Parts: sequence; C-alpha cells; structure tokens
Amino acid sequence: MTSDNVIRGVYLSDTLDLAALYDAPLGAIAEDVRVLRPEEVDDPREIRFAVCWQPGEEAFAPYPELALAMSIGAGVDALLAHPGLDDGVEIARVRDPHQADLMAGFAAHEILHHERAFETLARSAGNAHWAPLPMRAPAGVTVAILGAGTMGRAIARGMVALGFGVRVAATRCPQPPLDGVSYCWGEDALQRAAEGADYLVNVLPLTAATDNVLNSALFARLNRGAWLVQIGRGEHLVEPDLLAALDEGTLSGATLDVFRQEPLPADHPFWRDSRLRITPHIASDSLPEVVARQVVEAARAVRDGGSHRLGISRQRGY
Ligand code: OXD
Repeated sequence: MTSDNVIRGVYLSDTLDLAALYDAPLGAIAEDVRVLRPEEVDDPREIRFAVCWQPGEEAFAPYPELALAMSIGAGVDALLAHPGLDDGVEIARVRDPHQADLMAGFAAHEILHHERAFETLARSAGNAHWAPLPMRAPAGVTVAILGAGTMGRAIARGMVALGFGVRVAATRCPQPPLDGVSYCWGEDALQRAAEGADYLVNVLPLTAATDNVLNSALFARLNRGAWLVQIGRGEHLVEPDLLAALDEGTLSGATLDVFRQEPLPADHPFWRDSRLRITPHIASDSLPEVVARQVVEAARAVRDGGSHRLGISRQRGY
C-alpha cells in the first residue's frame, strides 16, 4: 500500500489489451484502485495485485510484493499452471452471472441447432425447397452437462426450461440442487452422466483430474450419433479420439469453441471438417463492468486485510 491509500495493480496478458477493456470501467467506480500497464509501473514494489489473462512466462517476475493474481474470466488454469506465480500469491477469478447466462444461451443454441436440423433446413430454403422435418419431444432427449459450477448450473437451468432431460456430473451433490435435474457425483460421475445421453456439454474447470476427459471411453457411453458441445478448455479433449468417434458414428458432430492451441492454427484439420462447428472462444465473456467491480472488491480486500468471495482453492483447482 502507498501513503496515498491507493492500491496499485498491473495488467498482465500476452493476448489481450486489458487496459483498453478495463481502464474506463475501473476509472468510473474507484479512485483508490489503480491498474497500470507494465510499462507505466515506476516502482514494481508498489504493485500488490495483477489483473490477468494468459500472462507471459516472465510476467510476474518484476513484482516482489504481489499478493493477488485475478483472472478476468471464469477459468484460472493459466494461473495455476504458471511457473512464475509464487504459491503464496492468492488466485481469484471473476464470477459473473451474465457470463453464465451467455454460456447457457450458447449451449442451448448449439443443441437446438443440431436437434432441429437448422443446417438442413437452411440448405432446403437455399434451394427454395419446402421440406418439413420430423422432430422429437425434448423430454425424450438427454443433455449431459459436465460441471456443476456457475456455468453448468446456468446451462442446466436453461435446458430444463426448454423441456430437455438434464443430467449433471458434479463433484458432490450441489446445494441446493436444481429442480428437474438429475445429478451424478463421486467416482465415475462423468461416465454415469454420459450414459445414453444425446448431447454432452463440457464446462469442467481444467485441473490435473480433468485434462483429456473427453476421450473415446467417455464418448462410447453416449447414445450413438450424439453431439458434443465443448466449451470448457481445449486440454479436456483428446483430438484423435474425437475424430475417431466422428468416423465411427459414435458422435454425429461437435461444436468446438476452445482448443489446445488458440487461435486454432489455419492448417488445423478441424477447420475443414464439415462435422464440426468451430467458434473462436466466444461462448461467453465476462462483462467489463462486472470485472471492474470485482477487481476493486478483491484489491480493496488485499489493501485492508479483509475477505472477498472471489478466491479459488489451489488444491481443488477452481
Ligand atoms: C473464461 C473463458 O475462463 O472465457 O472465462 O474461457
């Protein structure tokens, strides 16, 4: 803390211009919390917190007094895996209910797009061909959601409202559970949730226990011709297993929004596979005003020695 009672932080990202996103909303709500670009920092010892999105390898090195690293998104995997972030630095994340709603809308859109064959309908319309298609009642269609956090909960709520059968894989029985959702937890929760499901939506956090979980063994549990909506992290997916499941007909297709390498390289075969719907990590985003409010909340807690509700457990990984 400095003598003027202003707590100072730094933006750290290799991929986004965080100052362009957050300077204005931060400036509008707090004079006592200042976040600087690294090149604006005069005295690195004054920097107590970092606002982060995919920080570079050496990003944390200059700041010996850092107490908090805050992700501007829901995922903290890039911080947990960062070799330059001291164990003693608290990790926090934004918890934005709007972001969860965006995620729920994206998942519902992708499920309905496939379920109601909008691609086929658009092709027919393009040929001036009036071609109604058969449809199933949503109650007979099972959506399995991997992850019962803020995102999983919002997606489950949305799919229940649309009448689908919803099963959620969780680490423990959520309190309170949502009406209309059946939960699987404990060992092989993912497998049990996937059993006989028509759609598989992944919103798991990326941890040592969850990388590579979207694999042949899990796909084999689904109903033949199921559809994957992959909106967790690229590392969850075993890419050759996805291609094999598509070739064998285990999956009829997949929506992929996240990738092991982002941006997805131009020569990656996924781009040219007509069974895949590719989007550039846009399933959801945290709103700048919410990020700004929560950065201020967490930074003031660091300065005043108070508590805040945005921390994560390093041990659990989320
Ligand atoms: C996030 C994301 O972590 O958008 O919030 O991936």
